[in-house]
Amino acid sequence: MSAPQKLYEGKAKIVYTTDDPEILLAYFKDDATAFNAQKRGTIQGKGEINNTISTHLFKLLEAEGVPTHFIDTVAPNEMRVKRVKIVPIEVIVRNIAAGSLCKQTGIAVGTVLEPTLVEYCYKNDELGDPLLTGDRLFLLKLATPEQLDEIKTLSLKINQVLSEFFDKCGITLVDFKLEFGYTSEGQLVLADEISPDTCRLWNKGETDPNLRVMDKDRFRHDLGNVESAYQQVLERVLAQTKMS
Ligand code: TMP
Ligand code: ASP
Repeated sequence: MSAPQKLYEGKAKIVYTTDDPEILLAYFKDDATAFNAQKRGTIQGKGEINNTISTHLFKLLEAEGVPTHFIDTVAPNEMRVKRVKIVPIEVIVRNIAAGSLCKQTGIAVGTVLEPTLVEYCYKNDELGDPLLTGDRLFLLKLATPEQLDEIKTLSLKINQVLSEFFDKCGITLVDFKLEFGYTSEGQLVLADEISPDTCRLWNKGETDPNLRVMDKDRFRHDLGNVESAYQQVLERVLAQTKMS
């Protein structure tokens, strides 16, 4: 058995090789960054919480017919995933206006978006993950029109499954970011993670704009009680998973 090698270290995860070239180990860190790593910090217990939440959501999505890179969870902070070639696009799915959409368009925070808005950013830290137009995406050859079509269809299906699940948890899924990859067999699968780091989650029924936030916006905007918000999301996800 060869020792695992660090393959890649990102802002929130470290990816290691395993004995099987098709399988990687993802280690979820407590480190938190925002605004393209201009703001840095630690969210105590985040790695374990995000690994556990992602595990449950990947399992839910698989059960609903969405292919993911998830294999199994092997330690509190670690999951095994299929090795994939990541598509360098961050897909942003928005049900309610918040964040950069409001900043860039003037749409009021909280506006319900019908139909759901699907946006694409270039996954490139040096460039600051800029918003792409369809034509720029094709110019950069990040995907073919057929591939983008499949990515969008899958993203909307994921939104339907996750929105319904979070709603049962008493949480509104405002928006979220997805990453996709291709397996060695050429199958498109959901990759990365789904967690309070990558979703905006609002406590349903809470109207106070600061109190309702249960996600990384608490860290981004110094709203306080970051750990307890993540813990609350975990508890609700676990409770709802047990019930269904
Ligand atoms: P935005 O409104 O800042 O563009 O963020 C949209 C969603 O994407 C939000 O749920 C947070 C998530 N997100 C990430 O997961 N990673 C990122 O680097 C950024 C900018 C946003
Ligand atoms: N993860 C991103 C970063 O640090 C930004 C964010 O989530 O707000 O760069």
